[in-house]
Amino acid sequence: MTVIENSRLAIIGAGAVGSSLAYAALIRGSAREVVLYDIDAPRAEAEVLDLAHGTPFTGSSTITGGADLDLVAGSNVVVITAGAKQHPGQSRLDLAGVNVGILRTLMPQLVERAPNAVYVLVTNPCDVLAVAAQRFSGLPSGRVFSSGTVLDSSRLRWRLAERLGVSATSIHAMIVGEHGDSEFPLWSQSRIGPIPIREWIDDAGQTLSVEELDRIAYEVKTAAYKVIEGKGATNYAIGLSGARIVEAVLRDEGAVLPVSSVLDDYHGVSGVALSVPSVVDAGGVSRVIDVPFSAEEERALHASAETIRASLAALDL
Ligand code: 2OP
Repeated sequence: MTVIENSRLAIIGAGAVGSSLAYAALIRGSAREVVLYDIDAPRAEAEVLDLAHGTPFTGSSTITGGADLDLVAGSNVVVITAGAKQHPGQSRLDLAGVNVGILRTLMPQLVERAPNAVYVLVTNPCDVLAVAAQRFSGLPSGRVFSSGTVLDSSRLRWRLAERLGVSATSIHAMIVGEHGDSEFPLWSQSRIGPIPIREWIDDAGQTLSVEELDRIAYEVKTAAYKVIEGKGATNYAIGLSGARIVEAVLRDEGAVLPVSSVLDDYHGVSGVALSVPSVVDAGGVSRVIDVPFSAEEERALHASAETIRASLAALDL
């Protein structure tokens, strides 16, 4: 991929997620300049050095960083990964209070330095934080959104690709709703190539049963818990998902991605951020796409909205 000229990506937080995102962005050439900020200067400087040492093997992107927030100035995209992370047994929503507290101070400082940037929340619970960050920043909702279920959708496409022996690039399927326990697949709109998923005939001459589709959806929903149980965090796939979103913005792609922005009467849902198919370009989310939902999907969307609403209600925004 060609590196986008004059593009500056700032990543806030040099933990496992932020550093993996920087690594993915360097390898993919997602931005010309990658900046990695962390409140912990030695940590940020060490990650930057380690990443910089590898750049002779990547494209022409540069990596700088440290603990000075002024580094964010001039960024086109700011991705926020800073905050408390899930421990085994914790849900993403358990992190809301402490991470909203961080954003309350951080967002105004960031917007002061990069007033024209697109802001992408990766820190969890990312849907709740997208609402909080949008309020704290005062920016239009399309300019402040979260990575949402881009990662979950990638997990789904990978899983279906394995099962069906088809390239993941030909699997047009999305997880929507909360990036969390109430998320769900939009099966009614899922296709393998041009074939609706429920009509796909597998190698054994069978269509996929409802039970199998339910099982796959459950595996996707609980995938992060499994990874966290084994290694304490998820970082590589979210790093790649973040880099992909950044590219959609910096290349002004108009890519359709399931990112999460504050909705305004989307299937009757307003005032909460949820992932739905959205057009992502240089301005951020330029449009949410009004796709038809089945009655069951409609119910699931409203259940996700209630989950986020309840979490927001418990916070002092
Ligand atoms: C993930 O889904 C934990 O939200 C993180 O990998």
